[in-house]
Amino acid sequence: MSKRKRPDELRSHRWLGVNDLRSFGHRSRLRQGGYDAPDWAGKPVIGILNTWSDINFCHTHLRARAEDVKRGVLQAGGFPIELPAMSLSEPFVKPSTMLYRNLLAMEAEELLRSHPIDGAVLLGGCDKTTPGLIMGAISMGLPAIYVPAGPMLRGNWHGEVLGSGSDAWKYWDEKRAGRISEEQWQEIEGGIARSYGTCMVMGTAATMMAIAEAMGMTLPGASSIPAADAGHPRMCASAGRRIVDMVWEDLTPQRILTPAAFDNAIRVHMAMGGSTNAIIHVVAMARRAGLSLDMKRFDEISREIPVLANVRPSGEFLMEDFFYAGGLRALMHELRETLDLGCLTVTGQSVGDNIKGAEVYKRDIIHPLDDPVSREGATAVLAGNLAPRGCVMKPSAADKRLLKHRGKAIAFEDYNEMARAVERDDLSVTPDHVLVRKNGGPIGGPGMPEWGQLPIPTKLLKAGVKDMLRISDARMSGTSYGACILHVAPESFVGGPLAFVQTGDEIEVDVAARRIHLHVGEEELARRRAAWQRPAPRYPRGYGALYSQHIGQADEGCDFDFLAPLGAIAEPEIH
Ligand code: FES
Repeated sequence: MSKRKRPDELRSHRWLGVNDLRSFGHRSRLRQGGYDAPDWAGKPVIGILNTWSDINFCHTHLRARAEDVKRGVLQAGGFPIELPAMSLSEPFVKPSTMLYRNLLAMEAEELLRSHPIDGAVLLGGCDKTTPGLIMGAISMGLPAIYVPAGPMLRGNWHGEVLGSGSDAWKYWDEKRAGRISEEQWQEIEGGIARSYGTCMVMGTAATMMAIAEAMGMTLPGASSIPAADAGHPRMCASAGRRIVDMVWEDLTPQRILTPAAFDNAIRVHMAMGGSTNAIIHVVAMARRAGLSLDMKRFDEISREIPVLANVRPSGEFLMEDFFYAGGLRALMHELRETLDLGCLTVTGQSVGDNIKGAEVYKRDIIHPLDDPVSREGATAVLAGNLAPRGCVMKPSAADKRLLKHRGKAIAFEDYNEMARAVERDDLSVTPDHVLVRKNGGPIGGPGMPEWGQLPIPTKLLKAGVKDMLRISDARMSGTSYGACILHVAPESFVGGPLAFVQTGDEIEVDVAARRIHLHVGEEELARRRAAWQRPAPRYPRGYGALYSQHIGQADEGCDFDFLAPLGAIAEPEIH
């Protein structure tokens, strides 16, 4: 066991423990807040980064949960300080929360650096908040524990279970095809999100919370607890108690986030049938930890690990059911032969210790390795002349006939052009066509919006077509499904080959061979490239301009070039 810190070795000691004019100022201001020496003297100061806001209903409960974390911190002899951080409410933030993930990461890092903080509890859950908070915490390097917001309760409509996102897409298509009424559509609107908490399908939120746990950054089992379950505040108080000890033990993210920890996370991602978005975030987190993870590793692991969690959109159930089936500890126990059980976690114990004794209570929800939900990997990474630096798809959520397909492209330059075209009854389209949508990437979107599930043309929907091949440089919501090829890199906005696709070109996809090919000759492609003009920058000033100048492509994790590298930053001067 490593040596425990002394109180005078705490980072906060420089603010609060010395006897000079500056520390007089700090302590007098704490007294202004009604605190006194027994509140802070010799105690770890715990920063609770809270992404609660009035417009993030996935995080409504985090206001109260911060109090539960404080309760735990106080019980363990720490001094809790709550620091608000940007909330990144997925449904409301435009043009895309992805535009702001790195801003949250910067905010998290600098909130911790600039204040007298010794350890951090990170409260998040809604999609980008998990990677944003963890990326910032990794770069800051203080002991940190992640507290996932947890999924909301199942949706309900006329006794039918509704899943976030997935059932919105499904019933929107039913409405477009004239199979449900306006009144029914409005009833669904009132029943699809029934409680606070994150989306309760295996979307990006559930995927990233599970990945955080699999990496060792949460308490065991934390990611599966529904937001409204009484176990959730109990978990928050435990996290508050634990972070105080983590400070004394100097248990930093760098000690936890090894290459093996990331491999564990990717294995769990595959077994969960997780969101394709996670690839970008996991690459970004690994690079913050100084590791050179790339998309190929996802493909390698995807070939080994089948989908075990029978959760929508790849399966039938929801995260609430997954919790009752045993939750992530049970799923990781099923995967134990494939995991590195020796990896250290925030508990100070190993992954193996944390999952010991976990049981699956419902076999239809968490399957064993020898009888998986799907042998098709959750994620395939393809490459070829249309995506020289790669692209991704989720074979487990696609119509199997489209996993090997060749068809003619219908290409759209932007969202509005596509939205108008798919509603036209005279659109010349068959189920074998390939829909191509450009300018949805990190810079072109901007912020790589979740436009990758291009709508099936209404004409085909009415004829009963449920899936067709779709290609873009955008992302896709983890709640979506279909044969959608995403994250094409480099993006079309910067002159990636996707920019040169024209309607009528033939595109071939072979998922088993991990290949994507545009059947246009080299000479013709060179002619189109020479005639192509880069679109004008989206942002003349402000954060958007900074973002556009420094953002990496999808295969690099979309981090800023000035944030990704490792390198010590001097502690702030206290004077
Ligand atoms: Fe917050 Fe889906 S909208 S997790």
